[in-house]
Amino acid sequence: MLKRTHYCGQIQESMLDREVCLNGWVHTIRDHGGVVFVDVRDRSGVVQVVFNPEQSREAHSLANDLRTEFVVAVRGVVRLRDEETVNPSLPTGTVEVPAVELEILNKSKTPPFDLDEEDLGDSIRLKYRYLDIRRPFMTRNLMFRHRVNDTIRNFLGNENFIEVETPVLTRSTPEGARDFLVPSRLNIGQFYALPQSPQLFKQLLMVSGLDRYYQVVRCFRDEDLRADRQPEFTQLDMELSFVDESDVIDIIERLITRLFRELLDYPLTTPFPRMSYHEAMLCYGTDCPDTRFGFEMVDVTHLFHQTSLKVFQKAATGGGVVKAMNVKGGHVVSRKELDELTDLAGRFGAKGMAWIKVEGNEWMSPITKFLSDSEKTGLAEALGMENGDLVLFGADQPKIVNDSLAQVRLALGRRMELVDHRRFQFMWVTEFPLLKFDPTEKRYVSVHHPFTAPVEADVELLSDSPEKVRSRAYDLVLNGVEVGGGSIRIHDSEMQERVFEALSISKKEARKKFGFLLEAFQYGAPPHGGIALGLDRLITLMLGGKTIRDVIAFPKTQKGACPVTDAPAEVEAMQLAELGLRIETSRKKQSP
Ligand code: AMO
Ligand code: AMP
Repeated sequence: MLKRTHYCGQIQESMLDREVCLNGWVHTIRDHGGVVFVDVRDRSGVVQVVFNPEQSREAHSLANDLRTEFVVAVRGVVRLRDEETVNPSLPTGTVEVPAVELEILNKSKTPPFDLDEEDLGDSIRLKYRYLDIRRPFMTRNLMFRHRVNDTIRNFLGNENFIEVETPVLTRSTPEGARDFLVPSRLNIGQFYALPQSPQLFKQLLMVSGLDRYYQVVRCFRDEDLRADRQPEFTQLDMELSFVDESDVIDIIERLITRLFRELLDYPLTTPFPRMSYHEAMLCYGTDCPDTRFGFEMVDVTHLFHQTSLKVFQKAATGGGVVKAMNVKGGHVVSRKELDELTDLAGRFGAKGMAWIKVEGNEWMSPITKFLSDSEKTGLAEALGMENGDLVLFGADQPKIVNDSLAQVRLALGRRMELVDHRRFQFMWVTEFPLLKFDPTEKRYVSVHHPFTAPVEADVELLSDSPEKVRSRAYDLVLNGVEVGGGSIRIHDSEMQERVFEALSISKKEARKKFGFLLEAFQYGAPPHGGIALGLDRLITLMLGGKTIRDVIAFPKTQKGACPVTDAPAEVEAMQLAELGLRIETSRKKQSP
């Protein structure tokens, strides 16, 4: 076999007159009056190979048998293309390789889709993923992902981190999603859980004194899937000893800055802006705001305790909120679009969405007639209303108002083309609440996980107003997407007990679930903290992509299936019997 001397994408003008051997696939074939032009492709790109009978009769006659996706080896001497055939959109567009020798290494069936087709359906792409990955944009994505990993390993190695592998067959971890379970043959009736994250192990490694740990690690969560969620995904997981928030934040900012500089030539400035959870919820209605544009929300509940506008009054006096958002320049939004935005808000529970347009110093609105002069003055001041503005309102329970206005805000940002898609806006959201009340479980649950430390000054609130306790947790947000999260942990067993108490986790239950960690903490646990970055999400955003599926070699479908292998699949009765399992056949049909 002719062995490769160069990748196709490497052939360039500096190599004129040099003999090269290429190994790759036939991308396209054009026959021009007996001269055959073949674009040969490998993972680096394509280069034009010319088969002319005057150059080599043998190679030319073999070339007539070529079809797309045949596997070939080609030898020839690099030369310039004729001026009129230069292709400036191709990195190798000024050169070509006239073939003196061709070997057909393998044939190929006609692929089920054209590799140059841009709008392919997901199902065909995922079924023939190995061919989908041949498409230059997918190859590029995976090669980019490799470079991200490489840069991360290089950076963290220099920062004294060591990569340690933690078990995949383990116990349930406290990240709050549903676990994937694996039955144990050697212990009938018992199950491993696949890790939702290496959280407990990385904390144990701090007790071990490893000081700085990281792992590029697969995590498993049995959640409902969306464009930015997969049942198995990859974290860059880290934990550090003898640190506080500022150390973790500093390392991540330097790592991210380096990734963006080296791989995208994009300059980021540090420190990244920080915003408390409280402020994020107040101004943007979400804990992962896209701050590339304005339209901040304002809480105007206090203006409407005695208003004659019933919905506002009911929200203001009934434990709800009234929030308003000034869409600067929003007078361009039509009535029809307002109706659509109202429908959008409705999908998040809003029963309506009041609005005021300011045009020619007039307030045009279905609600102005219900507003008193003082209410109008209060609004105009709170929102800085001017000609050309559109003000939108949400009045309901806080969650409904926040969720619906946050979505409307994003839709308007897109509609008014305010989002600069070339910009990367990182920010930290800090001081998340430690606990939240779960109405179904009728108890407080952790917002992050039960080992997250409370803010020192708030500890005294733990017993009487647990919902007011802030935590030492932080999230990293990029362009409105949560790309990472972590916290400083509790390392003191007395504090841990107080938090378990607030969570209504009994000593017995705590011992059963995390006894091994609590015991380990009694042997000199150092102060520690860490973070995990969602690598699939980060890389997708770096590449400007829409779904994390495009940066994962073999992702799952919306239904959690792998179309290449057809997993999940039924297993032999024998396998089930060995595990002591039986399937309730009546349940099979019901599964969603
Ligand atoms: P957390 O649960 O916030 O923290 O996860 C960290 C990051 O992982 C990404 N992520 C996902 N990406 C794709 N698909 C999913 N289903 C998915 N779920 C999460 C997100 C998220 O920010 N152990 C803690 C970290 C710590 O405290 O150190 C943890 O797992 O980008
Ligand atoms: P040759 O006769 O071996 O010198 O090669 C024919 C020349 O025609 C090459 O330089 C090609 O670059 C050029 N050529 C003609 N038509 C095309 C085409 N459709 N695509 C690319 N190159 C072409």
